[in-house]
Amino acid sequence: MTAATATTADTFRPALHYAARNTWLNDPNGLIFHDGLYHLYYQNNPLDNVWGNMSWGHATSPDLTTWTEHAVAISCDEEEDIFSGSIVFDQDNTSGFGTGAAPPLVAVYTSAFKPGSAHEGLQAQSLAFSRDGGYTWTKHTANPVLSRGSAEFRDPKVIRYDGGAGSYWVMVAVEATDFQVVLYKSHDLKSWELLSTFGPANATGGVWECPDLFPLPVDGDPQNLQWVLTVNLNPGGPNGGSAGQYFVGDFDGTTFTSATTVTEGLQDPDRLGEYQWLDWGRDYYAAVSFSNVPHGRRLMIGWMNNWQYGNEIPTAPWRSPMSLVREVTLATVDGNRRLLQHPAEEMTALPPKTEFESRARELPEGQHLIEGPQGRVQRIDAWFTAGTAEEFGLIVRGNGTKGTRIGIRPGAGQLILDRRESGLTDFHDSFASVECAPILPVDGMYQLTVYVDSCSVEVFAQHGRLTLTDLIFPDESSTELSLYANGGPATLNSLSVATYG
Ligand code: FRU
Repeated sequence: MTAATATTADTFRPALHYAARNTWLNDPNGLIFHDGLYHLYYQNNPLDNVWGNMSWGHATSPDLTTWTEHAVAISCDEEEDIFSGSIVFDQDNTSGFGTGAAPPLVAVYTSAFKPGSAHEGLQAQSLAFSRDGGYTWTKHTANPVLSRGSAEFRDPKVIRYDGGAGSYWVMVAVEATDFQVVLYKSHDLKSWELLSTFGPANATGGVWECPDLFPLPVDGDPQNLQWVLTVNLNPGGPNGGSAGQYFVGDFDGTTFTSATTVTEGLQDPDRLGEYQWLDWGRDYYAAVSFSNVPHGRRLMIGWMNNWQYGNEIPTAPWRSPMSLVREVTLATVDGNRRLLQHPAEEMTALPPKTEFESRARELPEGQHLIEGPQGRVQRIDAWFTAGTAEEFGLIVRGNGTKGTRIGIRPGAGQLILDRRESGLTDFHDSFASVECAPILPVDGMYQLTVYVDSCSVEVFAQHGRLTLTDLIFPDESSTELSLYANGGPATLNSLSVATYG
């Protein structure tokens, strides 16, 4: 274990988020709802709490709020590390790994071949199957099933396409350093045919990783489906380091055509603010969606960390939490197709220890401690109207004047998250930061839903139009919640706080 893990008590272990018991994790992998359980696999180092020995860890949840960790699902060996990928339920046993009566789960993952192995230096796509509902896995003997002779071909997400062009498996993966999503087709998950490529487009300030492709009804209309292509990139995010962008458009079974591309080819770094981001914070990466969720819901999870400092965050014995599960929908916003993101509604089933409500009040210039809702784990719902304040908002996990600021700067049209005085920040030069995202009032108001946990803040603003996720490492005694206004007054229209711990 590294020096940064010297913290004795496990004070940063999240209450509402998944983290492994005592090991490292990064990307969510193989997200699938199967036999009544949500399965979360993830990039895992089974032997340490820093990146290495990449294998797939495994946890399950009946309700998206409580998770049970299981044995490592797919392990690295002398030939390969097991990089990111996805899982499908092969209901018709197209792969032949199961039987018609007992169809298998099939994992499609990236083999990162090790020095000295038969495919040394390559990244290629491989299969493993499970006949016991996802607990034990067997690697296919004829791996890899898809190689391009590339060292940067990874992160396959496989979906079932059922549309005008037929019914088959579609894989989206990346040629990471070419800023390209590559799309393949298969009938048996074993032999793959190239369909098309997408990119470079919009943000290309870092390698493209972990893509996803899914249809969503526009404004809830099942007759009007559009396709969403998500692509994570590292670095090159809007506030530095790892982040995820998305495109909305059409997929005809062969080609994804984006209706939201701003720049083709290599990015103009000054245009990051015009692109569509899954999250504007610094700690929401490698986000992908669950397969086979009932009622057509599209649920996503991201790795709540950033490759800039991921291996150094001061948690022990584990390192890196997952984000909350988010439900994403597609809506028309000011004439454009945009993703809306909300915490999965299952979160509201958790019984709070205390609840607090405040009615509308003026917010004079200054910092105003709210007596009552103290805690380390909270959901905060707040509505504000701008006055003449330059900046106003909330201070969470506070201690006197210190804390994490979540503010609106109406003149600048910005939502900010300032974690410079959030607690421990000096474990990495780039950690202390102020994140900015564009925000406009809706019906004259600013709406924030904020989940605060032992080491994180997730902001869902303006009814899910904008999200901003950051890690923080406050002292356990930092439990105050305050409101503030700088440079003039603002109005608090309403505030409710559910405290879980
Ligand atoms: C993204 C990533 C993937 C890769 C995995 C390795 O965070 O770099 O591209 O498959 O992590 O752990």
